[in-house]
Amino acid sequence: MLLLYKFAAYSHTLKSKFSDPWESVADHLSAHDWVILDDFLPEAETIAARNYLKKKLAKDAFKVAGIGALHDFRVEKSVRSDEIYWLDPRRDPEVEGFFSLAEAVKAHLNRLCFLSISGSEFHFAHYPPGSFYKKHIDQFDARSNRLISMVCYINEFWEPEHGGELRLYRGDGTFKDVAPLPGRAVLFKSDRVPHEVLESKASRYSITGWLLHQPAGLGYLLG
Ligand code: OGA
Ligand code: MN
Repeated sequence: MLLLYKFAAYSHTLKSKFSDPWESVADHLSAHDWVILDDFLPEAETIAARNYLKKKLAKDAFKVAGIGALHDFRVEKSVRSDEIYWLDPRRDPEVEGFFSLAEAVKAHLNRLCFLSISGSEFHFAHYPPGSFYKKHIDQFDARSNRLISMVCYINEFWEPEHGGELRLYRGDGTFKDVAPLPGRAVLFKSDRVPHEVLESKASRYSITGWLLHQPAGLGYLLG
């Protein structure tokens, strides 16, 4: 039922030229290297995820995020100043709604984009007021198994004066700014799209992660 409801939302968002709305998602991702899905996460799931995030924040379960992997890993506050909490679908049933939709995304992208996504990893991210993440791509030298980046925003509301847009760069240097609206998800190719998070003036909440072509591992180890 949940997925049928989402199909309707996708067609609406992308003004589908296909009978299967997932084809619009795959087509847009292939042609533009990213796709924006409004109303991806239904309101009830967005609220559940946000409440759980806030509970973990209150318990000091978040860690300052770093950059790089393995021997390269370091905390660099001038590059990114968010804090994160790695999620585990078995330990964190509060985000079950998100994980089941992420599974659907995986299956449909494998079917339509001829990808071989076999794993995923997700964390909560909190950008406190004044924080940002400078321009980067989501693949590290020490690991290249991130195929698709996926960010889902779970803010209660978002106004233009809050800033905090995700800026996605095209090959020609032009860019598109995406506001972190509640329930909105953004998918983009991890190795092809430089992007940044502009300074956020309000607390900014998301579930961020990657569809992988190998099982998860390093993120959890480092987290
Ligand atoms: C990241 C990232 C984008 C966002 O965590 O790597 O680029 O909009 N996040 O939160
Ligand atoms: Mn990124």
